[in-house]
Amino acid sequence: MTIEPTRSDDWLPTEVLEFPDGFLWGTSNASHQVEGGNVNNDWWAWEQNPRSPCSEASGDATDFWNRYEEDLDLCARGGGQNFHRFSLEWSRIEPAEGLFSQVALDHYKRVCDAVIERGLSPMVTFHHFTTPLWAAREGTWADTAIVDRFTRFCEVAAAALGPDRLRYVCTINEPSVVATMGYFVGVFPPGVNDADAQARASANLVRAHAKGYEAIKAAVPDAQTGLCLAMQDVQVADPDDDAARGFAEFVDFRMVGFFVDALRTGWIENLGPAVDDEEVPGLAGSGDYVGVQYYQRFVTDATAPMFTAPEPEGSEVTQMGYASYPPGLGVCLRRAATTELPVIVTENGMATDDDERRCAWIAAHLNVSHKAMTEDGVDLRGYTYWSTTDNFEWALGYGPKFGLIGIDRENGLARVPRPSLDFFDEIARTNRLDPAVVATYVGQGTITG
Ligand code: BGC
Repeated sequence: MTIEPTRSDDWLPTEVLEFPDGFLWGTSNASHQVEGGNVNNDWWAWEQNPRSPCSEASGDATDFWNRYEEDLDLCARGGGQNFHRFSLEWSRIEPAEGLFSQVALDHYKRVCDAVIERGLSPMVTFHHFTTPLWAAREGTWADTAIVDRFTRFCEVAAAALGPDRLRYVCTINEPSVVATMGYFVGVFPPGVNDADAQARASANLVRAHAKGYEAIKAAVPDAQTGLCLAMQDVQVADPDDDAARGFAEFVDFRMVGFFVDALRTGWIENLGPAVDDEEVPGLAGSGDYVGVQYYQRFVTDATAPMFTAPEPEGSEVTQMGYASYPPGLGVCLRRAATTELPVIVTENGMATDDDERRCAWIAAHLNVSHKAMTEDGVDLRGYTYWSTTDNFEWALGYGPKFGLIGIDRENGLARVPRPSLDFFDEIARTNRLDPAVVATYVGQGTITG
């Protein structure tokens, strides 16, 4: 079977699409990718480790720690966005075990307040890939001790931020990426290549979500709290290729299926010999929503390097190396809906130097999202573009540019809003996607980086 080339332009809307009242429109970032100077977590250490594949260190990032108001002003500028997602840096709030920093907690209170003052609802992520060094040294996610440590952090931080600030919460960002990239592929800390360690980490991340959810809801019962899942549309290049199919099933289960099943059934199951099946108290339905974070299809091919089929000629390939494949978002939204929880797209975005292509990506993925609501009945509550500004893209450093707002790293980290910010704001302000508006941003050949 040949894989068809794929590009955003094939999925642009052809009619005006209205979104439901109260639909959430926002952008997202994460502490380590923007704050700068997060010297006390496992990622900072990994960036300095000669064994790591990191292309550069995070360093000052975008200095969001000091410049969050500037970024939030830009988010609010168009008057349409009503939502903003960012994360707490655990290593700043609890720099040593059991020692909590009031200064850091106060800082995050001010960030929440600044979000709210600008008419946006905060979504606060409690864990976005980084773990304090003290916890990482004690075994990190492959060791069950982390579950209670994370729960205590959730208790303290949720109580400190309180009901006026915690409107939406994500307990853990992309547990499958933490487990897979850190413990199986080995390009994230702690750099392990062991499917059993990946399985143990996956189980602990799910346990930590269930207990974290309980702790956050105990402190702030009205906080809309959920788990944000990395979801790919995993396919096989040749369905008769048993090896590729087996690999696809493994990848799909470990990256997506295990987490969706766990939320639905409350069971940790089928992780292989390293993890016994177990029903986790409070896990079933532990969410007021489920977050979908979608970027790519993943086509497996037993004959290709890393079992990954190369993108065919004609595909629109992003700076991340994968192609724009909007229908995969529909597949993931329908799958997330099997949890029977409301769904929010908590991340979706394109790394590119061509901002016109970013606008096409947004339009195409929103078109598909709208169809998932209207044709398949998915209870979709919002769409969050990744990311607010360009930022530190983990092992790839500052190369990939995802932001609606560029960062001029040669010029004092100056914020450079892109046309896609205006495009996104116009969609948000009108609460609809209009092909006539899309046509003013896409296909004109006039928009640059
Ligand atoms: C992560 C972000 C990352 C983005 C783009 C998601 O996996 O949550 O931290 O920057 O994808 O690669």
